[in-house]
Amino acid sequence: MAVTLHSLQERKRQRERFAVITAYDATFARAVCDAGAEVILVGDSLGMVLQGQDSTLPVTIEQMAYHTAAVTRGNTGALIIADMPFMSYDTPQHACLHAASLMRAGAHMVKLEGGHWLAETVTALVRNGIPVCAHLGLTPQSVNVFGGYRVQGRDEAAAGQIEADALALQAAGASLLVLECVPTPLASRITQQLSIPVIGIGAGNGTDAQVLVLHDLLGLNPKPARFVHNFMEGQSSIQDALAAYVAAVKDGSFPGPEHSFN
Ligand code: KIV
Repeated sequence: MAVTLHSLQERKRQRERFAVITAYDATFARAVCDAGAEVILVGDSLGMVLQGQDSTLPVTIEQMAYHTAAVTRGNTGALIIADMPFMSYDTPQHACLHAASLMRAGAHMVKLEGGHWLAETVTALVRNGIPVCAHLGLTPQSVNVFGGYRVQGRDEAAAGQIEADALALQAAGASLLVLECVPTPLASRITQQLSIPVIGIGAGNGTDAQVLVLHDLLGLNPKPARFVHNFMEGQSSIQDALAAYVAAVKDGSFPGPEHSFN
């Protein structure tokens, strides 16, 4: 049965974790579905892992639509989230126009990076029939503002701001939230406060779901971040590695404390 926002919401209610993996083409979309992941993220991480860029900033809306369409052709029942690339949602009008091209390519929802200042944009998207996944914490499109890929929300003021942003985006209509590279206690607190499912990456094991970049979990990143585990270790095929990740997310054994920040 196809995964829907409603079924993900029900998983949160039942305290059943779900697994998210990025994919950028039809073959891997099918493999991710066969492994039992509920959600495919067509991430703008494709700029780094497919194109060899040193950030996600060069990725365009046309490239995101191209890869979303490819993933859609391989998908066999996962919910597909497509990333809105850098500067494609600087106004609510631009956001609606660009999100429409991702939805036409087959996405079920779009993901935007940023806090309370996106509330009006989120509401405009939802009013136009486009569900929204918010993304807080380390938002890679702002790497130049952060001065590097750093853990966010470490002090009380920054943690409070992320918490307030999460509540504001939920109130604006977001139906999922990605929390990236934040301390475990903060991510757990936000997950408990929100009624929408929270997907963590480098955010500890207290969230409702986990996401990893496909190439990272397959051990293809020569400089993996602390929150990455190479699921090819001990496995003899890509399909088994994907299934091992999904199983570890669902039984709560991934991420461990060694993948998390405090
Ligand atoms: O682009 C991406 O793959 C992402 C995940 C790292 C959350 O946004």
